Amino acid sequence: MQNRIFDEDESSLEKQELLLRPQYLNEYIGQNNIKNNLSIYIEAAKSRNEVLDHVLLFGPPGLGKTTLATIIANEIGGSIRYTSGPSLEKQGDLAALLTTLNPGDILFIDEIHRLPQNIEEVLYSALEDFCIDIIVGKDESARSIRVDIAPFTLVGATTRVGDLSAPLRDRFGVVERLDYYSENELSDIILRTTSVFNTSIDEDAIIDLAMRSRGTPRIANRILKRVRDFAQVKNNSIISKKIVDESLIALGIDELGLDYVDHKILSCIVEAFKGGPVGISALAATIGEDAHTIEDMYEPYLLQKNIIKRTQRGRIISDYGYQHYLKKKNHN
Ligand code: ADE
Repeated sequence: MQNRIFDEDESSLEKQELLLRPQYLNEYIGQNNIKNNLSIYIEAAKSRNEVLDHVLLFGPPGLGKTTLATIIANEIGGSIRYTSGPSLEKQGDLAALLTTLNPGDILFIDEIHRLPQNIEEVLYSALEDFCIDIIVGKDESARSIRVDIAPFTLVGATTRVGDLSAPLRDRFGVVERLDYYSENELSDIILRTTSVFNTSIDEDAIIDLAMRSRGTPRIANRILKRVRDFAQVKNNSIISKKIVDESLIALGIDELGLDYVDHKILSCIVEAFKGGPVGISALAATIGEDAHTIEDMYEPYLLQKNIIKRTQRGRIISDYGYQHYLKKKNHN
């Protein structure tokens, strides 16, 4: 009995997770330019009975690259296979995926900048001519045979477009950059999520959450889940601004959406490097975080909000960032 209840809970949870992600372009909030472009390219490809050109989506994490790939598949009416650069180790791993695609399917490769070189080489002919060369046999009897694959669309996603090799980048016909969401767009996403959760939320609580979600739907939805927990236990399930403020204090997220690591970055620049400039490796070593994590997940938002600045000689704190640092320091 216990198990049965658990199973039901789990499947309804999964359903909720699925519902949280928009399935079609008209349900997707924000990134209007990309949506408009994609809808044209998809319609044109469909009406010519061709497959959509390969698509490269890049931008900071959590902005909806995987969601857009799923939407592309749904709009085209094909299936989608998900994989990632680091999980493809052998040429055979990619060959197994490519040879089982049906015409019009989407292959999604997340973190495509981390694709090993030997795999990337297999991908070139697959992308260009829809065929791959497979080596059969060993040693003297080894020979290469050409295998046709179904015409497909690769959707590649990356947070570091600069790390892609030129030959790979050049094989994408569509290249789109995802930007941080506006507070209005995040408010709409938060409202959509609360309706999936069947939860009530006050208007000022939505705005407060939107301002503190770093322009990122994944963060907005993650915070919202925790705030919903606080509301459920403390406030009859209604999410008020007071509940948002209380929960975000507990989560260590400030009024700009900055967390513990952001604050470590700011204090490090101000205190250890006298406001900067500081290089990324010195910064990473001083605060004990990974340099790539800082560059991909923290720095883009701090730069976008003009809290820090990047100069030729490294990162420096802005006046605005310094004021924010002082406010936090005096508060603690
Ligand atoms: N949930 C997460 N991201 C979303 C988006 N861009 N539009 C609608 N719902 C979302």
